[in-house]
Amino acid sequence: MNFFTCPVCKERFSQVGRSLICPNRHCSDLSKRGYVNLLRPSKSGGARHGDDKLMVEARKSFLNAGFYAPLLTAVCDTVRAETGISAVLDAGCGEGYYTQGLRETLTKANPDVRVYGIDVSRDAIHAASLRDRELRLAVASIFDLPIADGSIDILINLFAPYDSAEFSRVLRSHGLLIRVFPAERHLWELKSVVYDTPYENEIDTFLLDGFTLISKTPLAFPLHLDRAEYIDTLFKMTPYYYKTGREGQARLAALPSLDTHAEFYLAVYRRC
Ligand SMILES: C[S@@+](CC[C@H](N)C(=O)[O-])C[C@H]1O[C@@H](n2cnc3c(N)ncnc32)[C@H](O)[C@@H]1O
Ligand SMILES: [Zn+2]
Repeated sequence: MNFFTCPVCKERFSQVGRSLICPNRHCSDLSKRGYVNLLRPSKSGGARHGDDKLMVEARKSFLNAGFYAPLLTAVCDTVRAETGISAVLDAGCGEGYYTQGLRETLTKANPDVRVYGIDVSRDAIHAASLRDRELRLAVASIFDLPIADGSIDILINLFAPYDSAEFSRVLRSHGLLIRVFPAERHLWELKSVVYDTPYENEIDTFLLDGFTLISKTPLAFPLHLDRAEYIDTLFKMTPYYYKTGREGQARLAALPSLDTHAEFYLAVYRRC
């Protein structure tokens, strides 16, 4: 069975009951919700293990309210034209909003498509497992993917760290990589409330070793947040929450509504 690979020896796991066992008898147990923890402490890519519970809950409730639905649609439209898809990976899947949306889109055409999600945050993977029982989920790092070489047809990587060498290793030849990241003035109006001098986001390079860039599409849409609770959840799911002083937080908390806008780049690549 094509499941995850063993973090110790890199051989493929087979599922035996509630355990994943590799040919060298290393064993990882599935949680009650069906996900597995394959994180090796030295490979987590940082001291803090990804998003905490507060950020995961905020992201879940904001995404469930449909504010980023245009982005989900754009990602699904990008993969729909692909043929011969059997395995998809969401690297840094968070609480699984896009992973689930992608699975629902792809399994309509082919019910056998396997959709994997990994995230370094256990809270995020637990939430993803509650969202969608059909996802194959692991707590693991983008920098040490528990995935066999050349076994993935489409890899998505949304607002999360990337590792072009790992992505190139797990994707099959000519496999598709989709990356989404915030553009220069993403949530500018929100930043203008919390910061005295808001700054533009620095844009990461579009060029990745081992990949051909096929398209880079700017995607922008308005966010009309007509409840204080929406402003609060959006703020808590951003990194600004942890960087903002009390005064900035108080200014935002006093707002009954906020009109801002989301602004992303959607970059599509093929593995060479
Ligand atoms: C901004 S969130 C985006 C989550 C999801 N892709 C989405 O768009 O809803 C970034 C995610 O990357 C995860 N993350 C951070 N470092 C990671 C790493 N080294 N390996 C795997 N996931 C990581 C965080 O835990 C968090 O869930
Ligand atoms: Zn092993």
